[in-house]
Amino acid sequence: MLVLGLESSCDETGVALIDDQKGLLAHAVHTQIDMHKLYGGVVPELASRDHIRRVIPLIEQVLEEAGKTKADLDAIAVTQGPGLAGALLVGVSVAHALAFALDIPVIGVHHMEGHLLANLLADPAPQFPFIALLVSGGHTQIMKVTRFGQYELLGDTLDDAVGEAFDKTAQLLGMCYPGGPGVSALAEKGLSGVIDLPRPMLHAPNLDMSFSGLKTAVLTAVQKAPDANAPEFRANLARGFVDAVVDVLATKAIKALKQEKLKTLVVAGGVSANKQLRERLRLETAKRGMKVFFPPIKLCTDNGAMIATAGLARIKHMSQDEINLHFKNLRFNVKPRWQLKEAAADIG
Ligand code: KG4
Ligand code: ZN
Repeated sequence: MLVLGLESSCDETGVALIDDQKGLLAHAVHTQIDMHKLYGGVVPELASRDHIRRVIPLIEQVLEEAGKTKADLDAIAVTQGPGLAGALLVGVSVAHALAFALDIPVIGVHHMEGHLLANLLADPAPQFPFIALLVSGGHTQIMKVTRFGQYELLGDTLDDAVGEAFDKTAQLLGMCYPGGPGVSALAEKGLSGVIDLPRPMLHAPNLDMSFSGLKTAVLTAVQKAPDANAPEFRANLARGFVDAVVDVLATKAIKALKQEKLKTLVVAGGVSANKQLRERLRLETAKRGMKVFFPPIKLCTDNGAMIATAGLARIKHMSQDEINLHFKNLRFNVKPRWQLKEAAADIG
């Protein structure tokens, strides 16, 4: 079975082809970062227009790379939400039009389920059950995943997502969007403990998190600094920020593993590319005889391969009657706000 995956929920147009026997055949991502950089964040209208320009050429590119044609496709998986409504509509409309013409089904995928299942493309891939740490620009969640489609939310951020905290810190340090990679690289040059920042909710009895206080602490440190542009100060502040974030995420993830008596941690979302987080989680899990899995680096941030993977997994869990409902659907919609557990409820 050959599945085309389309991702257009935010500022990356991602397209991929996955074969249920041979795995990932081809994938391509066009990032709009350079376009949005000028504005310090994603401009939704510009994002939608750019998806329109990119999506068809990218589909043609991956088909050609894989030596396939549209007629070889058996299904299309597309991000249905959450995300920017206009941006989602581009991928979803293209998916439905193409599928209508080819008479194949369209499977709507939850963006975070895609991130989570990108781990299935790692070698070795994790086995269920596991604890998932979903860390992206819009989400910071800890989940118990018993099997495919069964996601129990154990902890969430009460305010900013961790990727957002990286992006805002980068802005305060005069770096461009998206801030994660820049802050992480700057932190490598700084010293731990010179600037000590708060670890919000670290010792709270639950698995919830909060990052807005940390962002304010970064702002205060910048405002109070005699020279906020001094390279040493910037590096130490970045280090202090990264140390605080990593401390909170690692502590909560280990706590969840212990609480649920599980030994496997799966990390997903853009922030799972973070070097310091990877190092710390490897250390903490190894110490306790636990295992941690990350997606391949290129598949941490938004891409079509994760959507194709999640779509294929969904199809495999559907009966033929359920699959039949996904043909020639002219009443399709997008779900800009969509909880993963609502998406999971679709699976029997
Ligand atoms: O998953 P993603 O591509 O998009 C969303 O679904 O939100 O995540 C984007 C987020 C951004 O906030 C970006 O700054 C962050 O992931 N990010 C990182 C790194 N690479 C991307 N954060 C920390 N370290 C990184 N290396
Ligand atoms: Zn994402």
